[in-house]
Amino acid sequence: MQFQSKKILITAGPTYEPIDPVRFIGNRSTGKMGIAIAEAFAKQGALVELVLGPTHLRPTNKNINCHLVETGAEMYAECLKYFDTCDVAIMSSAVADYKPVEVASQKIKKSDATITLTLEKTTDILFELGKLKKQQLLVGFALETENLIENATSKLIRKNLDLIVANYSSTAGEGFGFDTNKVIIIDRNNKMYNFELKQKEQVAQDIVDVVEKYLK
Ligand code: CTP
Repeated sequence: MQFQSKKILITAGPTYEPIDPVRFIGNRSTGKMGIAIAEAFAKQGALVELVLGPTHLRPTNKNINCHLVETGAEMYAECLKYFDTCDVAIMSSAVADYKPVEVASQKIKKSDATITLTLEKTTDILFELGKLKKQQLLVGFALETENLIENATSKLIRKNLDLIVANYSSTAGEGFGFDTNKVIIIDRNNKMYNFELKQKEQVAQDIVDVVEKYLK
């Protein structure tokens, strides 16, 4: 029970940014990795606040409070409720980076003309939490298609993180939709923990073990 009475905030899954009442901008994240992390911490006695975007997957451990959200704005608002008092925050969700400037109140009808959607940036939740950080250990994810270490390290610094979990989205078996993942965890002193391709449940346990080393 290495995390008895510790509070962990975790985001998981995609976000959906509405275009009209029936359409949205989203992505292929299933939330599987983040839910596995929530389960792994809960198994070690932690109290977990899981902020979960739209997915059919659900956690099972009763130490996990699951807060269902749809948009990035809702996810951000929910995180702000729990960030202040948590010991560790792990942002594994795939927040849509852009949302429509206007949401149509009725279903957009098709016509022969092309249509243009104007998009604006969503709030970068992890970046904002990095600015608010005090005692919390802040952990981010970096899903990259090239220059993994370089891009992940620059995210670690830019977002004021303690650890970043980096993985490639291009190799078979990694990332969205797969049951397996291959990650490298990097800290602020450039120390790297390199792991093999494994089941997401095992990856989650590796993340728990590394986080434990850094917990004050
Ligand atoms: N993240 C977040 N809120 C956002 C976008 C991302 O909290 N609006 C978090 C993710 O949960 C993840 C980390 O930021 O932990 C990395 O997200 P990513 O999209 O890879 O990084 P970006 O900063 O958006 O950079 P880019 O998309 O250009 O690679």
